[in-house]
Amino acid sequence: MCGIVGYVGGRPALDVVVDGLARLEYRGYDSAGVAVLAGGRLATAKRAGKLVNLKEALAEEPPPAGTLGMGHTRWATHGPPNDRNAHPHTDCTGTVAVIHNGIIENFAALRAELEDAGHKLRSDTDTEAVAHLLEDELAAVDGNARDGLAEAMRRVCRRLEGAFTLVAVHAGDDDLVVGARRNSPLVVGVGDGENFLASDVAAFIEHTRDAIELGQDQVVELRSGGVTVTDFEGRPAEVTEYHVDWDVSAAEKGGYDYFMLKEIAEQPRAVADTLLGRIGADGRLHLDEMRITDRELREVDKIIIVACGTSYHAGLIAKYAIEHWAGLPCEVELASEFRYRDSILSPTTLVIAISQSGETMDALMAVRHAREQKAKLLGICNVNGSTLPRECDGVLYTHAGPEIAVASTKAFLTQLVAVYLIALYIAQVRGTKWGDEVFAMVQLLERMPEKVDKVLETMEPVRELARSLAGERCVLFLGRHVGFPVALEGALKLKELAYMHAEGFAAGELKHGPIALIEQGLPVVVVVPPRARDVLHDKIVSNIQEIRARGARTIVIAEEGDASVQPYADTLISVPAVPTLLQPLVTTVPLQVFACELATAKGHDVDQPRNLAKSVTVE
Ligand code: AGP
Repeated sequence: MCGIVGYVGGRPALDVVVDGLARLEYRGYDSAGVAVLAGGRLATAKRAGKLVNLKEALAEEPPPAGTLGMGHTRWATHGPPNDRNAHPHTDCTGTVAVIHNGIIENFAALRAELEDAGHKLRSDTDTEAVAHLLEDELAAVDGNARDGLAEAMRRVCRRLEGAFTLVAVHAGDDDLVVGARRNSPLVVGVGDGENFLASDVAAFIEHTRDAIELGQDQVVELRSGGVTVTDFEGRPAEVTEYHVDWDVSAAEKGGYDYFMLKEIAEQPRAVADTLLGRIGADGRLHLDEMRITDRELREVDKIIIVACGTSYHAGLIAKYAIEHWAGLPCEVELASEFRYRDSILSPTTLVIAISQSGETMDALMAVRHAREQKAKLLGICNVNGSTLPRECDGVLYTHAGPEIAVASTKAFLTQLVAVYLIALYIAQVRGTKWGDEVFAMVQLLERMPEKVDKVLETMEPVRELARSLAGERCVLFLGRHVGFPVALEGALKLKELAYMHAEGFAAGELKHGPIALIEQGLPVVVVVPPRARDVLHDKIVSNIQEIRARGARTIVIAEEGDASVQPYADTLISVPAVPTLLQPLVTTVPLQVFACELATAKGHDVDQPRNLAKSVTVE
């Protein structure tokens, strides 16, 4: 996954592009580069490492001032992250420059063909082949023609296989940036006398909030005076313009040291925003935006949830809610495994794909597999204009705002709200819960932002605990019922941020093996269900006793006033009392804070953990 910015208009292009790249660095940060066109000359600069390295190079050797440019911050797929492999890549003549996000699966054959034809390719990347293909196609379509670059791009795209967002410029036209997309994001920022291209809106919303989402297999011609979109065959394409309601500060750090800290703090707002506009004055839920009719929902006889990572954990929690409220069988599948099974799907199967970015290739491929099996598709996504919503029959957007930190936090809580809403809505539509029962639960949901706020206010002891454990090599997490996916999520956060071994278990599984891991002083976090679930609650208290007797350092998360766990908790973290199914909204937050603080204590960059990207747009 990479960050891409393109610009044409009246401003100094270099400033617009580099500022835009800074807002997209979370999409990939192992190298960066820019191209600026001025006086008929295409100047490029690129450096391995983070954007700061490129900025230093540009300060040492500023390119000529131009009002057309593009830039790229990379997450390497083909070729190690070094200066040579950084984008942009140019053709033999140095008059065409290209930047790319994705993987061109047939690049090896194309590269061989180009080299046989005498082209000199200098990098190890798949992208460079595109620059030389454009060079050949421009010659074939009279590259000086006003739309030569766009036509050349269309012809090249028809030859490419795989996932790609491409942006190209030609030294012969200082008022044209051409973009193309297949299976990878690209949005247009529509300005006044200027236009922008970017991987996501954060790159240009300080200049314009009017955007166009580009669809599959489309080519866009960006000129200062306007935008033209066609398909790969050159036919004019329908475009959807929308207004971006994120302001610049929403994509900045807002005074926090890390985006992750800001995003953890934004969770009450995000939960509240995700409820907004979906609860009628009559107390009934209104989710017609899902574009799946009530009749279709009544015909559903099975639900399958597909997702990855943290989103998968949201799916695991959704299962409990759907089965309890909607009375439907619900399976939860890792998206990367789903399409390799012989899953049983039919037109009455509802497949729900959960993805913050809407660009996770594993999730997209699972959706396409389900589509082939004629299932009904519903997306839960946080990014308007991303691919997932366009490939589903309906979508319920989470309104978490931009989630920049690689580790997902507020998006996760809003995914839980979304799955609760969907489960309750299905219950309302199918009549498995009376209207007043749905309304009662919705009222409790509406109070969750304040509950999450209350948790955030009491996190200082959790931070102190985290710092005290910075030298530990391993932490285990236990939970039962919806607390089990929370334990998995807590372990994932610690793995991806602190690079520590961490593992989540169903507490009932302890005696089937994991209890052998318990040794003196080993930190074990236990998520305790509300006392209202007495059987579950009593069993997990026994589990805490078992591990404590074997020397574990018990860190217990339990609802306020739960005195029964006190004698067995070396550290007790109290959270507000909420209904069992909603408890993940409050028990997850201490685990987010714990992992973030421990990683910070270890000196890690929690926004951009090693080896990880915010959205994994390759399989
Ligand atoms: C979560 O903290 C991770 N960054 C990762 O597991 C993420 O949840 C996963 O890659 C799925 O991403 P998506 O929600 O954008 O599809």
